Amino acid sequence: MNQPATAARLAQTPAAPAYVKHAKLKAWVAEIAQLTKPDRIYWCDGSQEEYDRLCDEMVASGMLIKLNPQKRPGCFLARSDPDDVARMEDRTFVCPRNQEDAGPNNNWVAPGEMRATLGKLFDGCMRGRTMYVIPYSMGPLGSHIAHIGVELTDSPYVVANMKLMTRIGRKVLDVLGANGYFVPCVHSVGAPLAPGEKDAVWPSNKQNKYIVHYPETREIWSFGSGYGGNALLGKKCLALRIASIMAKEQGWLAEHMLILGIETPEKKKHYIAAAFPSACGKTNLAMLVPPKAFRDKGWKVTTIGEDIAWIKPHGDGRLYAINPEAGAFGVAPGTSEITNPNCLAAIRHDTIFTNVAMTPDGDVWWEGLTRVPPKELIDWQGKPWTPGNGRKAAHPNARFTMHSGQIPCVDPDWENPNGVPISAFLFGGRRATAVPLVTEAADWTHGVYLAATMASETTAAIVGQVGVVRRDPFAMLPFCGYHYGDYFRHWLEMGKTVKHQPRIFGVNWFRQDAKGEFMWPGFGDNMRVLKWIIERVEGKAQAVRTPLGLQPRYEDLDWTGLEGFARERFEELTRVDPAAWRKEVQDHAELFDKLKARMPKELYDVRDQLERAL
Ligand code: GTP
Ligand code: SPV
Ligand code: MN
Repeated sequence: MNQPATAARLAQTPAAPAYVKHAKLKAWVAEIAQLTKPDRIYWCDGSQEEYDRLCDEMVASGMLIKLNPQKRPGCFLARSDPDDVARMEDRTFVCPRNQEDAGPNNNWVAPGEMRATLGKLFDGCMRGRTMYVIPYSMGPLGSHIAHIGVELTDSPYVVANMKLMTRIGRKVLDVLGANGYFVPCVHSVGAPLAPGEKDAVWPSNKQNKYIVHYPETREIWSFGSGYGGNALLGKKCLALRIASIMAKEQGWLAEHMLILGIETPEKKKHYIAAAFPSACGKTNLAMLVPPKAFRDKGWKVTTIGEDIAWIKPHGDGRLYAINPEAGAFGVAPGTSEITNPNCLAAIRHDTIFTNVAMTPDGDVWWEGLTRVPPKELIDWQGKPWTPGNGRKAAHPNARFTMHSGQIPCVDPDWENPNGVPISAFLFGGRRATAVPLVTEAADWTHGVYLAATMASETTAAIVGQVGVVRRDPFAMLPFCGYHYGDYFRHWLEMGKTVKHQPRIFGVNWFRQDAKGEFMWPGFGDNMRVLKWIIERVEGKAQAVRTPLGLQPRYEDLDWTGLEGFARERFEELTRVDPAAWRKEVQDHAELFDKLKARMPKELYDVRDQLERAL
């Protein structure tokens, strides 16, 4: 413990800049610095010059590679440690005093015990590094729906990503003033440097990783990982886990949802919020390009957000949603000119790519970008790669970080501080079997049941096995910061507080045929389902009753431009197989049983009705 030397080093770094008026913030920064013992403290002002300078420094240290400025102006590539490539659910903890409040859906350790563990790990963990202070706003600055956090981190990569994805710096402190409330977030890669020790290209801690939330004090502590949701603490930690707790207390919703706008040929505007688990199609749906026949008729889709929605009741009796983020950390593999041209245009410039492959001329590549891969590449781990060598060129959870303003179809209201009114909620999972293309819930309670019982196959967005079907209520399993039973009850209550409830729909783009092929073309053609949904909202489209809810018949969808899609195939895609569904309903019962201490009775009633209908 080299206390005096650290104190001497810190004494050389200037105190907080004069524009920092918040005494409690300054005191907290000093307290964390005393614990973590960085060599320097740097307050981020959020300017472009600062971003450029940090990127230059990371290029010099090898953490970033500058991509070809002719092909990808303003773009960089980062390669993470191969053990630090995705969110780690088994290292994520929610630690209220009472274990029951965290629910069976969260890992829990008594807060005192967790504080003791983290206290040791954080002691001196920033030695040899700079501690960056990042004031950030989730939501448009000053919006009544927005919240402010301050992240202290020893990773310049985190600063650069937070700059693209949130609103950071001096302007946030102006809103915070001398006494404003902020959520304190501490992050360290957990790799202190001895004097003269050479840094790793991607520092992290192989032995210890913790992503910890204390609900009562609304604190976030993250140790050991520099990747995505583990390290960019505004995203999953604040905007979902902590925000979900605040939302329950204050009467709003924090959800793992995209928000998109749809303009009809009659120039009516609707907004839809849709929940899908990680890597299950939110970014694609949020930036959907309608089929040509639809565009010609005047259908238009615009993007408000692609991962998170904060939703509040409004004086006019409707629910209004904002995107708390200002940018995306999206999945690269599978993104192409065919699946998502808007996204591809957005990441042409000023983008940070992480764990994608690099072409010999300094451009990027990933599986699915082009049908035929380039003849040679440098893979995501920096090794030479040739087609057919049996390895993936990009990591399946390779991602891009870009500012939302770069999305060509971004909605003019994407930064509206009051949000946009929601007409419908969609809930969808990745289900090869059983779940039909689209089902409309009979009413709000039935919709809550439908969302509470959804399941999905796991993806590469989480460390662990891929392709395992698990219940993922509301696509919030890794993100709901409290007991799921209380969360379902909160959704039921929210329905009662609004006069004009959005309609609720379940969707599944991923059903497969006997040969294991997707039965539905998906992507732009999802517009056909969205159109039916909008027409249901407007009271124009027909539906038939099934045991699961209301479904379109073949003739209820608009097939213009896809006339070859056979009626028999549609019937297979929308079929409700009673045997498969009796098994599903058993799984619902198992889920409810796990949560039974706090399950709302209404949902058992819906389950009983469903069982009878089958
Ligand atoms: P997170 O950022 O992890 O929360 O995920 P996301 O939901 O935004 O994921 P994203 O949209 O990036 O999903 C990517 C994956 O979904 C890729 O494998 C896509 O090919 C696949 N996908 C998206 N839409 C469709 C679709 O309509 N049909 C099919 N078959 N696959 C789709
Ligand atoms: C997700 O996993 O749902 C993501 C990516 O959006 S991450 O930010 O890494 O959590
Ligand atoms: Mn997500």
